[in-house]
Amino acid sequence: MQIGIISLFPEIFSALDYGVIGRAIDEQKVVLHYFNPRDYSTDKHQRVDDRPYGGGAGMVMQVQPIQAAITCAKACLPTAPVIYLTPQGRVLQQDTVQLLSKQPSLIFLNGRYEGVDERLIAAEVDVECSIGDYVLSGGEFANLVLIDAITRCLPGVLGHADSAVNDSFTGDRLDYPHYTRPAIINGMPVPAVLTSGDHQAIARWRLKQALGRTWQRRPELLSKQSLSFEERLLLDEFIDECEE
Ligand code: ADE
Repeated sequence: MQIGIISLFPEIFSALDYGVIGRAIDEQKVVLHYFNPRDYSTDKHQRVDDRPYGGGAGMVMQVQPIQAAITCAKACLPTAPVIYLTPQGRVLQQDTVQLLSKQPSLIFLNGRYEGVDERLIAAEVDVECSIGDYVLSGGEFANLVLIDAITRCLPGVLGHADSAVNDSFTGDRLDYPHYTRPAIINGMPVPAVLTSGDHQAIARWRLKQALGRTWQRRPELLSKQSLSFEERLLLDEFIDECEE
C-alpha cells in the first residue's frame, strides 16, 4: 500500500519504525510519502497559517500551501482518496479500518492549530475521520493510530498465527484474557482449563470470557449483534457465575 502523508511535522511518523509496522515498512508492504505544506508555501516567510476570519483564538491553516501539497501527493498517488484527521470526522471503527486497508493508496491530511480552512476541505477532502471524542493538538497522532491499524490488516504483515483475521477484537466483541508462564505468580494461578491441553474446552472458555467481558464492559456492542445459540448459552453461564 502507498500512503501519502501531508504534515507540517513528518518527523512524528518515525514512531512507525518499530515492531511489526516497522518491519512492514522495511519490506515495503507499506510505503510512506511525505508532503510538508511548508515546502509548498508561496509566502516569502513560508507561512502556512493566518488569523481566523470573525476573530477568536488560534490560527487556521491556509488553503494555498495545503492545496499545493495535495496536488503533488495526487500526482504521485492519482487514485488515492484524501482523508482528513479531525475530531469533527466520523469516529473510526474496525470495519472502516478494514475497508481502508483494501485501498491500493491513501492520502492523509494532518491539520494543526485550529484546523484547516473549510474551503480546502470542501474542495479536496473525501473523508473526515476522528479517532475518538477528545481533542489532540494535531492530526498526526491520530494518523499514527490509523496507519498502524491499517498496516496490520495488510496481507503478510502479521504472522499466520496472530493474523488480523484471528484478532478476537474485530469491532464487535472484546478480547479474552491472556496468560503466560509461570503458572502461579504472587499466589495467583492461571485458569486450570488453559493448562488442561483440551483445545475444545479452551476455545469454549475463551469465547465465554470474550462474551462475558463484552457484556460487563461494553454492553452496547452486544446489543448490536445476534448471538448464536452456543454463544447465548455461554454468556448465560458467565452471567450466572457472576451472580453466584
Ligand atoms: N485531530 C485532533 N484531534 C483529533 C481526533 N480526536 N481524531 C482525529 N484527528 C484529530
